[in-house]
Amino acid sequence: MTYLLALDQGTSSSRSIVFDRAGRVVASAQRELRQIYPQPGWVEHDPMEIWANQLATAKDALLRAGISASEVKAIGITNQRETTVVWNRRTGVPLHQAIVWQDRRTEPDCQRLRDQGQAANIQERTGLVLDAYFSGTKVGWILDHVPGARAAAECGELAFGTIDSWLLWQLTGGRVHATDVSNASRTMLFNIRTGQWDSELLNLLQVPPQLLPQVFPSSHVFGETDASLFGQSIPIAGIAGDQQSALFGQACFRKGLAKNTYGTGCFLLMHTESQLQTSGNGLISTRAAQVGAGPQYALEGSVFIGGAVVQWLRDGLRAIDSSTAVQALAQSVPDSGGVVFVPAFTGLGAPYWEPEARGAIVGLTRGTGLGHIARAALESIAFQSAALLGAMGRDAAAGQSAPITELRVDGGACVNDLLMQFQADLLGVPVVRPKVVETTALGAAYLAGLGTGVYQTLEELESLWQPERTFLPTMSPQRAAELMAQWEHAVRQATLA
Ligand code: G3P
Repeated sequence: MTYLLALDQGTSSSRSIVFDRAGRVVASAQRELRQIYPQPGWVEHDPMEIWANQLATAKDALLRAGISASEVKAIGITNQRETTVVWNRRTGVPLHQAIVWQDRRTEPDCQRLRDQGQAANIQERTGLVLDAYFSGTKVGWILDHVPGARAAAECGELAFGTIDSWLLWQLTGGRVHATDVSNASRTMLFNIRTGQWDSELLNLLQVPPQLLPQVFPSSHVFGETDASLFGQSIPIAGIAGDQQSALFGQACFRKGLAKNTYGTGCFLLMHTESQLQTSGNGLISTRAAQVGAGPQYALEGSVFIGGAVVQWLRDGLRAIDSSTAVQALAQSVPDSGGVVFVPAFTGLGAPYWEPEARGAIVGLTRGTGLGHIARAALESIAFQSAALLGAMGRDAAAGQSAPITELRVDGGACVNDLLMQFQADLLGVPVVRPKVVETTALGAAYLAGLGTGVYQTLEELESLWQPERTFLPTMSPQRAAELMAQWEHAVRQATLA
């Protein structure tokens, strides 16, 4: 038998999954990741904990699958993107905790760059909206706040990487410092047109080039694991940022195919093949996972608070004991009773890009109960995703992209049928849930499999993708438009706060 091992290092946990050749889950293991909040708006992870947890889950998954390293053809890595680690090349010790993608500490640096009129230049080169979300300003922060870091970086003593590079470095015993195009495209230092680190941006953000990893296609033999880790070495043959990996795992390789992942946040990506399409409506352009020489692109909308709103119902409002209880509470009422919940806890991402917005619950009456608020919270996930699809639709109408005809879904909250039906109703297109919803890890496994000859073609992977359930729109387009108008009205309230 041929197996592929995917390492999926996410924001809240590290997971490892063993897949068979048909893309079926054989075994998996997971460990939670400690979230460190040193100040309001700051979010950090311990890079050593990430590595230790990830390795432990990889070993556990192999044990549970009952297989040895010799039966694993290749490893694929997929990861939370943008999160920034800087470490010493000689000792392998990180200089600082990892600064997580959600961390807002560099917003003043971004504002300075906006004031200098750099937003359009940065967007032109990177495809990104100038925001603290991306790695570029986070690297600068570490170099400026750890004593001696900038000088050491200039002497070539330090390495920067997103989490994929950090894991690759550790897995190869410090022999390989590399990343893939999909992760590089999230740093705000990488030119998505040329496929190179951009020297003008490195100057602008004061990042010494000596820090940077080498960039390769996503399906590529990056190196081999140090033999001491699994008893023998295993090739690492696939790397992609988690959202691009999910797009790949959903077999969205063709123009107009799109997926939405319902996790802590929501990430809607639409493939645009070899064409870099820019959005006039608040979306970003990014590199999709790349197999072979030709660059591949996607349009992306990122929502910062998706499933995390359910965590807030549980931990903040204490309205439910467990996240799974949300569906029953939301279904205890026939609709939200006019309540609209905008979970802008950390500002609003695409397509609004309002860093100062804060959460708002509007439309409360004497008759409002927890059921209505829970329903509005769930609906907020669908509204935000619909706003992204609306932006993609406006781009399509302006001739900048193809319209979406169905949305493939994955991530924790896609099991919620109420949410998926409401999503289809709002979008007016079918929402399709596949049989294997572990698409993030599956994408990395597929990339590794393509890199080592387990698979030969993308068509082969397309034939492995199977729908489990399709949610068809049942709401009238007029009603959906009314609800979206209510949502947009509430968003305006949240941005006034
Ligand atoms: O851009 C951030 C994204 O990659 C994080 O994904 O699934 O770890 O929340 P996730």
